[in-house]
Amino acid sequence: MSRFVTISLTQYGVNNYIVSMTTWQPEIETRPGPRYIAIADSLAADISAGRLKPGDRLPTHRDLAWKLHLTVGTITRAYAEAERRGLIAGEVGRGTYIRDRLGDAPPPLMPTPPTTDDYVDLSRNLPSASGPAAAMVAKHLADIAQSDIQPLLGYTSNQGLPAHREAGAEWLRRRGLNADPARVAVTSGAQNAMMLAIAALCRPGDVVLVEALTFYGIKSIANLLGVRPIGIEMDDDGLLPDALEAACRQHAPKALYALPTFQNPTTTIMPLERRKAIVEICRRHGVTIIEDDIYGSFDPASTPLAVLAPDITVFLTSLSKTVAPGLRLGYLHGSDAIIQRATAAIRAATFMTTPMVAEIATRLIRSGDADKAAAYQTELAERRQKLASQILHGYEFRSHPRAFHIWLKMPEPWRREEFTETARRRGVGVAPANAFAVGRAPVPHAVRIALTQPDHDADLERALSTLAEILQDSPEGALPMV
Ligand SMILES: Cc1ncc(COP(=O)(O)O)c(C=O)c1O
Repeated sequence: MSRFVTISLTQYGVNNYIVSMTTWQPEIETRPGPRYIAIADSLAADISAGRLKPGDRLPTHRDLAWKLHLTVGTITRAYAEAERRGLIAGEVGRGTYIRDRLGDAPPPLMPTPPTTDDYVDLSRNLPSASGPAAAMVAKHLADIAQSDIQPLLGYTSNQGLPAHREAGAEWLRRRGLNADPARVAVTSGAQNAMMLAIAALCRPGDVVLVEALTFYGIKSIANLLGVRPIGIEMDDDGLLPDALEAACRQHAPKALYALPTFQNPTTTIMPLERRKAIVEICRRHGVTIIEDDIYGSFDPASTPLAVLAPDITVFLTSLSKTVAPGLRLGYLHGSDAIIQRATAAIRAATFMTTPMVAEIATRLIRSGDADKAAAYQTELAERRQKLASQILHGYEFRSHPRAFHIWLKMPEPWRREEFTETARRRGVGVAPANAFAVGRAPVPHAVRIALTQPDHDADLERALSTLAEILQDSPEGALPMV
């Protein structure tokens, strides 16, 4: 059992609150595997057993490193792992503390943590860190440091500074939108933009239509805000118009959240005719479209729904896939009424998106660096798609030459969970179809395999070869019997 002491301090200030400080020490001696995993496992065990409670503060990285005779880097990794599992959160001024999971969405059904240090995580769609983004961001940070940063340090506009919204509009115009900076809100990434859009459009109990398999981030938002996501059947061209029509009649939805370009997870790019049909149905039923165009830069030829129907579409994107997700910077574009309500939601949640980061994004966009970073990711995706086609030749998967991932159908008799677990044991993370499913409709036996995250092609090659080997084996042979 882990050792810890809890000291409760009651502070009386503007708000009364209780801060509980803990000198928690994990039990890692008896836990096998990498030390950072052992620490995260011990944390999970102590939370399950009620020995750590929501709000309890954890020791600083430095203190815990000193106590455990480990490096600060190992503790940082352990806390990052615990955060990834949804166990803890960190805030400037508040330190690292145990999360209150009440009201949280159930964690997506992603593979449980790595068992080896050479684990290759193909479960998440990240741009490769091998690209030019880090150097570009560093350069702009240095330039900002040399400039007058005072205007970025105050409480600025909730919607975003005019120059930052103008840069956002410029980025959206690259996608063909007639973007107006007055109708742009600067957001903390696309996930935040999705949340703002739902908060602006829906009340608890309202229905939001989504693709039957969709980006799992929308499920967390629906869960948190109490809206009901209903999945709409898809074919190889994306959302099925008939199914959408029927759902509009049956559920009187407030909104449709959709990914027409590089649908996640199926990689579908919806053809223009289908886009027109979807827009027409939504217009007829008074349904607002929330268009997630986060992968849009990788298919500039596609026409966003927001171009076809700007009056009924809320358009959102971010720099997470083109530059880096750690920037947490995105843009939302919509009608005056939507922007007003989304801005009220920003005010309630964070007051404003960090202007310093919006300034970096502005410089990335204005200098053309964001385009260069996107071009790098496009090239990388193309190269890696070819690699995947070679190594997984003969297996059935949906893809696109510039997609970040592939959608692999399990050959008989493999089931998605067995495959995900077997891959995990063999050191490769993949995302099973359940993570993307909504409601209780049957879920296909498929997994999403992200290709861009590994820094080196060789790591991806090794991981994909392992997956191909697993597929050649039988599930019975792959998992140990008990
Ligand atoms: C389709 C889709 N939308 C939104 C997001 C969230 O992106 P962000 O990092 O900008 O919040 C992701 C991230 O994977 C995504 O795939």
